[in-house]
Amino acid sequence: MSSEVKESITIHKGLDSIRVNESSICLIDGERSRLYYRGYSIADLTDNASYEEVAYLLIIGQLPTQLQLDELKNTLFSEYTLSPITMTLLKSYPSTSHPMDVLRTTISSLALEDGGLTQDKSVNLQRAIRILAKAPVIIAAFERIRQGKEPLTPKKELGHAANFLYMIHGEIPSNYDSRIMDIALSLHAEHEMNASTFSGIVTASTLSDMYSIITAGIATLRGSLHGGANEEALKMIMEIGTPENAVTFVEERLKQKKRIMGFGHRIYKTYDPRYTILKAIAEKLGGVKGKASLYDTAVRVEREALGRLSDSKIFPNVDFYSGLVFHMLGLRTDLFTPIFASSRIAGWAAHVLEYLEDNRLIRPKAVYTGKVDLQYTPIEQRT
Ligand code: CMC
Repeated sequence: MSSEVKESITIHKGLDSIRVNESSICLIDGERSRLYYRGYSIADLTDNASYEEVAYLLIIGQLPTQLQLDELKNTLFSEYTLSPITMTLLKSYPSTSHPMDVLRTTISSLALEDGGLTQDKSVNLQRAIRILAKAPVIIAAFERIRQGKEPLTPKKELGHAANFLYMIHGEIPSNYDSRIMDIALSLHAEHEMNASTFSGIVTASTLSDMYSIITAGIATLRGSLHGGANEEALKMIMEIGTPENAVTFVEERLKQKKRIMGFGHRIYKTYDPRYTILKAIAEKLGGVKGKASLYDTAVRVEREALGRLSDSKIFPNVDFYSGLVFHMLGLRTDLFTPIFASSRIAGWAAHVLEYLEDNRLIRPKAVYTGKVDLQYTPIEQRT
């Protein structure tokens, strides 16, 4: 490529600020700490709605009537059942497998019994709801299997969040714990054109199937710069151990050019509104569960990190306190990202269904910097 042509090309590393479509699903105002799902503020939704209502809102586009909500709950309940093939698979995995690998593999495997490419909107929607229902059951079943326990089946009288806690712990959760889990799921359900949503859209744009699309989303969410940060943030807070250790830890970490997990965001240049909600929950929950000292350590780390990073517009994000909240609900650290994924299925499905209404294959370009017209050398002549 000539140097003149090269100079006129802008490379958008990380696709920073590139708009890939028009969407009515989610608005993030990263300067003013605001987040809306379909026009409703996240605080309004987490104050009032259940996760099932939020999922309906995202996927269908409006809040459900009581009848529509009941229908969704019935569909979810009937889809909670895992097939013998799925159960056999879950029992065959090494108990040391990361639950995120288990979730990705098992969601992919659901296509073995319901596969095939289709552009039928109702089939895509049905599959999205099926995956949404089965994901938490898969996570909970593996959690029990790896401890040598029998998986539990959901209870009709419990909601989506409460059922998840029930299937993990084997006892009916309190209304308080259930509500916190419900809020946490709603907070993770959607977040505009992030890496995993884009990954789902890339897959959908080739006219692939819903199982492949959600599998791609899970695969992309797994990394520590995206969904995996919640695990890392909690491990960091646990490692620090006490509020007194926070100053040295933060200082050392930043000196070594390492990142503070649960801090920073491509869009938020101030506080992530999900962080604000989770921090308040973590404080209260810490008191209720006798984990106030963990919360105090997190607050101290936050203060020290903010003091050094806020001038660069690096603030705590959703992951700083979400891990703490999940931990206080008695959930093991490696379950955090799968829980995030199970909730985000609603957002992924919403975006994909919207994108497919006016699909265009996603096919960007790279700037070639290699050589051309090299002569093939037979292998025995290569040095
Ligand atoms: N701690 C310390 N420095 C940071 C951090 C952090 N958490 N985040 C960004 N920076 C610095 C970074 O080192 C870089 O500095 P310099 O210009 O001197 O090299 C500068 O800020 C810009 O970093 P970037 O990676 O180009 O910025 P980005 O917009 O791509 O960052 C991010 C977004 C989320 C990848 C990053 O903030 C990060 O790695 N955070 C830690 C991981 C994390 O918490 N991820 C969860 C994100 S929110 C949940 C989700 O949506 O998935």
